Amino acid sequence: MITSILPTYTRAPLTFVSGSGSWLVEADGRRFLDLGAGIAVNVLGHAHPDLVAALTQQANKLWHVSNLYNIQPQQELADLLVEHTFADTVFFTNSGTEACELAVKMARKYHYDKGAPERTDIITFDGSFHGRSAAGIAAAGSEKMTKGFGPLLPGFVHLPFGDHDALTQAAASPTVGAIMVEPVQGEGGIRALPDACLKGLRDLCDEHGILMILDEVQCGVARTGKLFAHEWSGITPDIMMVAKGIGGGFPLGAVLAIQNAASGMTAGTHGSTYGGNPLACAVGCKVMDIVANPDFIAEVNRKAGLLRQKLEGLVAGHPAVFEAVRGSGLMLGLKCNAPNTDIVQAGYSENLLTVPAADNVIRLLPPLNITDTEIEEAVDRLKKAASKVALTL
Ligand SMILES: Cc1ncc(COP(=O)(O)O)c(C=O)c1O
Repeated sequence: MITSILPTYTRAPLTFVSGSGSWLVEADGRRFLDLGAGIAVNVLGHAHPDLVAALTQQANKLWHVSNLYNIQPQQELADLLVEHTFADTVFFTNSGTEACELAVKMARKYHYDKGAPERTDIITFDGSFHGRSAAGIAAAGSEKMTKGFGPLLPGFVHLPFGDHDALTQAAASPTVGAIMVEPVQGEGGIRALPDACLKGLRDLCDEHGILMILDEVQCGVARTGKLFAHEWSGITPDIMMVAKGIGGGFPLGAVLAIQNAASGMTAGTHGSTYGGNPLACAVGCKVMDIVANPDFIAEVNRKAGLLRQKLEGLVAGHPAVFEAVRGSGLMLGLKCNAPNTDIVQAGYSENLLTVPAADNVIRLLPPLNITDTEIEEAVDRLKKAASKVALTL
């Protein structure tokens, strides 16, 4: 008989009932150190007092009115995002995959309105992940996500990751209107696009009048040690998808864009009942207040250096289990020699949470305010987990 929850997830046998900072408490009382942060979501850990206060204060005032009216916290958050990024305008969603839907629509409408309705194709890359909506799975294109769900939304050109010649050729096609790329692939195994490639992509987009869509759903919101990951390369996109960290654990996403790219999105062309609701945006404003502060970002970079250095030591000490450390900031991956899921499982037995990814990688995506002591503790637990796995090889 089917379970009362649609069985689309293989869940670990863990039920967390409360959390505080980098720690989660299981129903049986065990305390787990959380290096997954709800898959890069809880940027300020669990139950951050300022976020709890922002949410409860808003909850006592107003939950929902719809986008038929002005929403004060939504306006505040849009202004904050415009102030701190390349963007001129923002549309709020409830998730990353909804941000993908709008990014695709926005790019197509832009070219349509500019008199090039044939420019519907969007270039994407192998190993990418853009969500589970019809557009999201068609964009990523992997068989794992698309098999059985056809007919797929047409208009995506899938290229191998890092194949410069294929990219140059594809970008010259008169039907290409946009390129969608994650500056650091998350689900794909913490694969960072080198800054030079991001710059090259920007040049290619400018040369051919292609819109650059960055998917910063996982790598954005200070995770890589800049407010948004593309800032490392010095370029700016035309459109950017954001979600996960921006709500600190409350469902919230956004599409940010420059005025020209957004010019087709006039009244009536897009909407969302819940997108930009008062509760989500009140929390989002508080997240931005904290993470956009240069002192906070400097601390992320310092802690990232500490974690990375300790992980390099871990990898060197367990060559049969780990191959390398990769990633950026506090979005780190351990490329494994042993099966990654064995290491994640062994982590559970050490009360440590990590997240598997493609390419036999485990992801370390801790809360950005993790302490130095917790970093040391986490690496100690990873060492114990690695020693256990080594015995099975
Ligand atoms: C890069 C990227 N884009 C899009 C998504 C989809 O976001 P959501 O699960 O909020 O729909 C994810 C989720 O993991 C992601 O990592």
